[in-house]
Amino acid sequence: MKTPVRLGTPLSPSAVKVMLLGSGELGKEVIIALQRLGVEVIAVDRYPNAPGHQVAHRAHVIDMTDGAALTALIEKEQPDLVVPEIEAIATPALVELERKGVATVIPTARAAWLTMNREGIRRLAAEELGLATSPYRFADSLDELKAACEAVGFPCVVKPVMSSSGKGQSRVDNAAEVEKAWNYAAAGGRVDAGRVIVEGFIDFDYEITQLTVRALNAQGDVTTHFCEPIGHVQEKGDYVESWQPHPMPAAALQKSREIARKVTDDLGGLGVFGVELFVKGDMVWFSEVSPRPHDTGMVTMASQRQNEFELHAKAILGLPVDVSLLAPGASAVIYGKHEAKALAFEGVADALATPGVDIRLFGKPESFARRRMGVALATAKDVETARVLAKEAAAKVRPVVIK
Ligand SMILES: Nc1ncnc2c1ncn2[C@@H]1O[C@H](COP(=O)(O)OP(=O)(O)O)[C@@H](O)[C@H]1O
Ligand SMILES: [Mg+2]
Repeated sequence: MKTPVRLGTPLSPSAVKVMLLGSGELGKEVIIALQRLGVEVIAVDRYPNAPGHQVAHRAHVIDMTDGAALTALIEKEQPDLVVPEIEAIATPALVELERKGVATVIPTARAAWLTMNREGIRRLAAEELGLATSPYRFADSLDELKAACEAVGFPCVVKPVMSSSGKGQSRVDNAAEVEKAWNYAAAGGRVDAGRVIVEGFIDFDYEITQLTVRALNAQGDVTTHFCEPIGHVQEKGDYVESWQPHPMPAAALQKSREIARKVTDDLGGLGVFGVELFVKGDMVWFSEVSPRPHDTGMVTMASQRQNEFELHAKAILGLPVDVSLLAPGASAVIYGKHEAKALAFEGVADALATPGVDIRLFGKPESFARRRMGVALATAKDVETARVLAKEAAAKVRPVVIK
């Protein structure tokens, strides 16, 4: 396992250099955690002044789906580690750079490549690792989709194979709705807009994110650590609130961790993984996995001794980690609510007046109605109270447009 054996001084010959590919709110927190360890950080995103750009040593704006541009930047900067923060990256270029020994990709280039496409990770999980998943089929045309939906059965969920945050994803209840789902998927996918996955709808009791950390122990061996399960609510495929720990029967928790271990063992490397699971009674289905910190894991900024970003930073540097819970906690998303540049936020003082509450504003230069601009965090004696506090705090923060 190739990791920096020692830390250094930024902007000097001893510097340990890490490049973030994607510098949104999750990348920003990873960068802050790296900065605290004296790492030199290079933040890359597709637009200027992204959240992570604002806290890094250097910032670059490139189209990360352009393999040549990505390769040129990595060869120029020569980072010790390349850390993908988003899925929409020319991952074949990363695979090639890793093969040539030019870059160490976190957790591995193969993991970034497999998980950017729903087909790659689904076939690995279900067909190679034998994990329980929803029934599924792939389709490249409306006719194929009609047949695939019939085969999977209704209700089902149609998703572009290349998409995230619920984009292009819809539930289909009967044959008459298939065409609408096809058109919606074609509009919402990225890169390869023509291919979709159909999944049987799982009528779960709840869904969790099992944050799983692969880190080195004192002997230099990879050890797998499990955070407490995170419960969350999704609206239109986007997370709106999360909490930790989510109460679960012991059998379901054990199954969740067995699944998380299998999939992360196979993906390999070091760092945090967000394993998404559906749970009904003692039954657990694997849904998908992010080989990086997960948006629902923002709750750990309040609820854990080391949040998921610090865990990621430490693990990738080859340092030991502590996944222990500090207190029951919750997070609630603060949306932009406006289409505007340079929003202002009122009501922050009011939100922060409640003990146990904290607020993060991401500093995104442009807002959309459903764009995540910040998050409210809370800890309390139990998750129910924390959820109420986080939602109340998020509601107190009012985005306003400055003319
Ligand atoms: N097969 C399914 N059955 C039931 N709900 C699903 C299914 N697939 C997705 N969902 C719901 O939609 C959300 C987003 O789907 P997901 O596959 O995680 O897409 P994304 O990559 O955009 O996060 C899930 O967290 C879950 O709430
Ligand atoms: Mg998901």
